[in-house]
Amino acid sequence: MDLQRYLSAKQKIINDFLSLFLLDKKENTSCPDKLHDAMAYSLCAGGKRLRPILALASYEASGGEGESIVPVASAIEFIHTYSLIHDDLPAMDNDDLRRGRPTNHRVFGEAAAILAGDGLLTDAFTVISCALGRPETLLAVMRELSLAAGSQGMVGGQMVDIELEGKTIDKKMLEYIHAHKTGALIRASCRIGVIMAEGSSEQLEAITTFGENIGLAFQIVDDILDIVGSSEEMGKPAGSDVVHGKNTYPALYGLEKSSQMAQELFGKALLSLSLFSTKAEPLREIARYIIKRRK
Ligand code: IPE
Ligand code: IPE
Ligand code: MG
Ligand code: MG
Ligand code: MG
Repeated sequence: MDLQRYLSAKQKIINDFLSLFLLDKKENTSCPDKLHDAMAYSLCAGGKRLRPILALASYEASGGEGESIVPVASAIEFIHTYSLIHDDLPAMDNDDLRRGRPTNHRVFGEAAAILAGDGLLTDAFTVISCALGRPETLLAVMRELSLAAGSQGMVGGQMVDIELEGKTIDKKMLEYIHAHKTGALIRASCRIGVIMAEGSSEQLEAITTFGENIGLAFQIVDDILDIVGSSEEMGKPAGSDVVHGKNTYPALYGLEKSSQMAQELFGKALLSLSLFSTKAEPLREIARYIIKRRK
């Protein structure tokens, strides 16, 4: 299959939904202009849309049809974008470049950047509540997403990431950080696709293993790219992790071993999909892309 074509088609679906949402917010709600603009600035700055695409691909792999997954998948991108805005704040990673543009707080100021993140996080749940689907299914999606994004998921991982900056940690703790700050939302994106398709418990279990493996691999590759990638290509500053004393896979294991570990996780991810038919081909290709990507 032509992965690039697949990704572009799915990106367009997500980007169209995000544009419509922002237009509606501007014209029909009481959201202040500055808040709208700060949210739109980061949401529309590009980005690979990997998490919503994983939700769409998992949905299709487990037999889902139609458009009801689109608002739900887009809501995941709201939460991911909020996490990037807050991750870049001076009190967090203090970075100046994101998605090829100055970071949100550099343009709108810290207070507006914090509030833009808060707005995106909260609006994600409004969007899901308006999606088409059985109430039980949408409730399961909200539970999945709030658990993955919250204190026992991404936010928990970010807390430990920040707390342990500059400290020596063991392998278990490093895996905890990566599996939570990044892995949790990727795992949830995959699971949400199956939940929305009302797939079987076997499918959900398989996709969970898939999501956990590619989620960890994704952050290992992010750490590797922070060393070997270029700011121009990535649209965010290379070399940021060393400057901030971050605990990363290359710092603990070296570059070569880290790549090998990402490759092994990719292998496990592929194995976990064995019960799926050719409908899961996009998921397999996305997993391959995650470990080969340059940005
Ligand atoms: C960056 O995520 C943050 C991490 C979890 C490593 P992406 O690499 O998916 O960023 P965008 O969405 O493409 O900008
Ligand atoms: C971020 O990890 C994880 C998030 C929840 C945003 P990083 O701090 O390594 O992400 P980048 O490199 O800034 O995108
Ligand atoms: Mg960070
Ligand atoms: Mg960062
Ligand atoms: Mg990084």
